[in-house]
Amino acid sequence: SEQGCLSVIVLGASGDLAKKKTFPALFHLFAQGFIQSGEVHIFGYARSNLSDDGLRERIRGYLKGASEEHLSDFLQHIKYVSGSYDSGEGFEKLNKEISEYEKSNKSESPRRLFYLALPPSVYPSVCKMIRTYCMNPSGWTRVIVEKPFGKDLDSAEELSAQLGELFDENQLYRIDHYLGKELVQNLLVLRFANRLFLPLWNRDNIDNIQIVFREDFGTDGRGGYFDQYGIIRDIIQNHLLQVFCLVAMEKPVSLKPEHIRDEKVKVLQSVNPIKHDEVVLGQYEGYKDDPTVPDDSNTPTFASVVLRVHNERWEGVPFILKAGKALSSRKAEVRVQFKDVPGDIFKCKRQGRNEFVIRLQPSEAMYMKLTVKKPGLEMATEQSELDLSYGMRYQNVKIPEAYERLILDTIRGDQQHFVRRDELKAAWQIFTPLLHDIDEGKVKSIPYQPGSRGPKEADELSERVGYMQTHGYIWIPPTLA
Ligand code: BG6
Repeated sequence: SEQGCLSVIVLGASGDLAKKKTFPALFHLFAQGFIQSGEVHIFGYARSNLSDDGLRERIRGYLKGASEEHLSDFLQHIKYVSGSYDSGEGFEKLNKEISEYEKSNKSESPRRLFYLALPPSVYPSVCKMIRTYCMNPSGWTRVIVEKPFGKDLDSAEELSAQLGELFDENQLYRIDHYLGKELVQNLLVLRFANRLFLPLWNRDNIDNIQIVFREDFGTDGRGGYFDQYGIIRDIIQNHLLQVFCLVAMEKPVSLKPEHIRDEKVKVLQSVNPIKHDEVVLGQYEGYKDDPTVPDDSNTPTFASVVLRVHNERWEGVPFILKAGKALSSRKAEVRVQFKDVPGDIFKCKRQGRNEFVIRLQPSEAMYMKLTVKKPGLEMATEQSELDLSYGMRYQNVKIPEAYERLILDTIRGDQQHFVRRDELKAAWQIFTPLLHDIDEGKVKSIPYQPGSRGPKEADELSERVGYMQTHGYIWIPPTLA
C-alpha cells in the first residue's frame, strides 16, 4: 500500500493486558478500517507453546462489537511466534516472520510497531532483543511501553537510561491510557478554546480542585502485583497526575506535542514537596486476605494527597488527588470548586458554591452547579446545573476506547498523548519522598470498610483545605427516555 505495510508485534500476547486491551483495540481499529486487510499483520509473541489458532482461540472471546465476518477476517491476520524474552533465538525467528511478510507485501517502507504488554522487569532485555534482531531496515520502528515505569525516581531513571541507549525518544511511546480518554483529551479544548473559562481559571476565582478516581472493586487476583506498588504508583502518580497537568498547566505555544509536553513538565516542576499532614492513606479491610499479599502489608489501596503549585496562577489553591479501590462507586472526575460570592445577599452559602465538574467516566459529562431561583412563587434559591451529558448530546457517537486511540496515534507518529522522559522524571520527583516514607512505614494506612467512601479522615482533609460539600444536592446522569 501507499503507506507501507504495517506489522504490529504484541509481546506478552497471552497475558491479561494483551487479551483485555491490546487485541480488542487492534480489532476495533481493524473493524473501522483504520488498519486494513492487505496492509496489516499482527504477530503475537510469548513464551507459551501455542499455535496460531491457539492464540486466536484465547483472544476470540474478548473481541466484541463487530460482525462475525470482521472477526474471522481479523483473526486470520494474526500469527503466533513463541520464544523467551531474553534469548536471541526467539527474536531472530520473529524477525524472520516479519521480514517474510514484508517481502510478500512488496512495500518499500514497511512499518514495525512493537507493543510491550509485559512486566517492566523484562523491558530492558526485550528492548535489547528488538534493537539487536528486529529493527526495520527501511521504514520506522516504534515501541509502546506500559507503566509501571520504575518504582521511584532512581529506578525510573535507570529504566529510562537503559531504553534511551537503545531507542530515540521519538521511537518510544510511554502509554498512560488516561490520556486516551475522550474527556481527558477535551480538557485542553475546554480550557483554551472558551473565553468563558480563561479569566476564571486561577487563584482569584477557584478555591480548590479535586481530581478523583474511585473503583467499586478491590485488587481482585492482582494483589501480588498491586502490593508491590500501591494506589499512588498504580493510579495517582500517572493517571491523575496527567489529568492534573492538563487542568493546571499554562497555555502551550501551539498544539505541537513538544509544546504541550513542555508545559506539562513546567507545571510538574512547580509542585511543592508534599506534606505528611496533607496526605491520608487507607487500606480496605480484607485486602490482606489475598494469599499473595503479606499479612503485615501497609500498602495503600486508597490515598488522598494535596498538591500545591508554586506559581502565579495557583498559589494557595489545593489540588486534592484522591484514588481508591473497593469504594462505594466507580467514577473518575475533576471538580473545580469556585470561591464564595462576596457580599452574598441570598444567604445561600450553606447551599453550595459553583462547582464545575468534568466527569471522565462513566456517563461522560460536564456540568456546572449553579444557584438558581427555585421555580415557584417563593423567592427561594436552590442548586441546579448546566449540563452537557455526552449520552444525550451525542446520541449517535460511539466514544472510542482509550487504547484504540493511542495505538492509532502511534501508527500516525503523534506523541502528544504520550509521556515524555523528562515528564516522567518530574512526576516521580513529586511522589518519591512520600513513597519512600510509606515503604518504610513512616506513614500508615488507615483501615476502611470495603464499599464505603474510604477513611473519614480523607473527607476531613478535603474540608480542612477548603472543599465545601454541597448538601442535599446530587447530580444524576440523565438518561434517554
Ligand atoms: C490501570 C490500573 O492502570 O487503570 C488499574 O493498573 C485500574 O488498577 C485501571 O483498575 C483503571 O482504568 P480505567 O480505564 O478502567 O479507569
